[in-house]
Amino acid sequence: MDKFIIEGGGRLAGEVEISGSKNAALPIMAAMILTSGKNKIRGVPQVRDVTTMLYLLKDLGGCTEEFNDGCIVFDSAGINNYEAPYDLVSKMRASCLVLGPLLARLGKAKVSLPGGCAIGARPLDLHIRGLEEMGAKIRLEQGYIYGEVKRLLGIRYYFDTVSVTGTANLMMAATLADGETVLENVAKEPEVVFLANVLNQCGAKIKGHGTDLLTIRGVQSLKPINCDILPDRIETGTYMIASAITSGDVKIINCIPQQVEALTMKLRQAGLVVEENETSLRVVGDGQLNGVNIKTQPHPGFATDLQAQFMALMALAQGQSIIIETVFENRFMHAAELKRMGADVTIQGQTAVVNGVKELSGAPLMATDLRASASLVLAALAAKGKSVISRIYHIDRGYSCIEKKLCSLGAKIYREK
Ligand code: EPU
Repeated sequence: MDKFIIEGGGRLAGEVEISGSKNAALPIMAAMILTSGKNKIRGVPQVRDVTTMLYLLKDLGGCTEEFNDGCIVFDSAGINNYEAPYDLVSKMRASCLVLGPLLARLGKAKVSLPGGCAIGARPLDLHIRGLEEMGAKIRLEQGYIYGEVKRLLGIRYYFDTVSVTGTANLMMAATLADGETVLENVAKEPEVVFLANVLNQCGAKIKGHGTDLLTIRGVQSLKPINCDILPDRIETGTYMIASAITSGDVKIINCIPQQVEALTMKLRQAGLVVEENETSLRVVGDGQLNGVNIKTQPHPGFATDLQAQFMALMALAQGQSIIIETVFENRFMHAAELKRMGADVTIQGQTAVVNGVKELSGAPLMATDLRASASLVLAALAAKGKSVISRIYHIDRGYSCIEKKLCSLGAKIYREK
């Protein structure tokens, strides 16, 4: 298993380019199931979750004609298999995104239940109930979700909890359903809005994306997808914090500043200078960092996917900061590792109390999930001395060329195979 060796203490400076968004690319790839023909997606990030999704789609009967330089050309005409097996779904929860599209296209689906996850139980009850209300007969057997339906029917459905992939799954299913579907209390994440826009370009009739209520009028068929994936806002935020934590001066290009507004405001409150342009950001730190409080929430609130990285930053701030995680019940796994570096963090349920310390020291560290790994990398960049981070396969799931990008900013980070 690969490891990162990081020699901390340096200041990051320079320019870094943001890759396409993993969480935008995955639902778009699943949406190819709804089409029959040659789909073309550009700006796809080089991350392991994308490769896993591509394996899954090939397994379903599609054919990858091209996959290089961030461009995927995928012929979905041959999709005829409706099983998403455990070995692929267990690698990546987002595989559940094929459930709605398979039922809509083939009227059948057999998708493995993803099982537990480091950051929380993450059930699929809201996806399943929605599809049942659309007329699918669903049973859970031997670790699999079996679904069957003649044709999905439009419904009115309320999400008890805002769910990103839940919204995407039901929205995709509804594009080919009979009649109109109204989804209430839906996710407003940019990746959901992007999916709706791309589906509309393919002939879907979706309205209300970006608000709490989506209306989808079912159509008979969709044209193949042809799109450019939007930049990754979580990668953007991670590099913003990387600059902040090393008192750096980093310009982040090819990003959408409005999508990280909550983080920008918190960084400014903490004492950093954040300059925003149309498609770039510059974060400058001068060593002065104050503790600020955050509470994670669905978009446009502070993203849960940036909470771990922000905690690493707050570990070095002056004073106290309170971090409340409201989206996932177990997303503080990084705290124990940060404490091993000298951070002062106390966890009480969904709340972390961070008392800033003057410095962190390098240590052997273990990555537990994707964003927790990013938090450890950031802490190690700022720490005194050497850190060795193991299990970095987690980070390879979602960050494209991270060591290359950090090295270009002056970081001392090496991958040991
Ligand atoms: N939930 C339910 N029942 C459901 C679905 C969700 O109770 O049927 C709960 C979850 O357990 C959680 C909350 O609802 O407490 C929100 O979960 P959501 O469904 O929104 O999460 P997700 O769709 O599984 C996506 C991202 C995550 C990101 C969350 C929240 C993708 C592929 N994944 O997950 O990204 O943290 O939304 O913004 O888009 C990551 O990239 O590291 C990552 C974990």
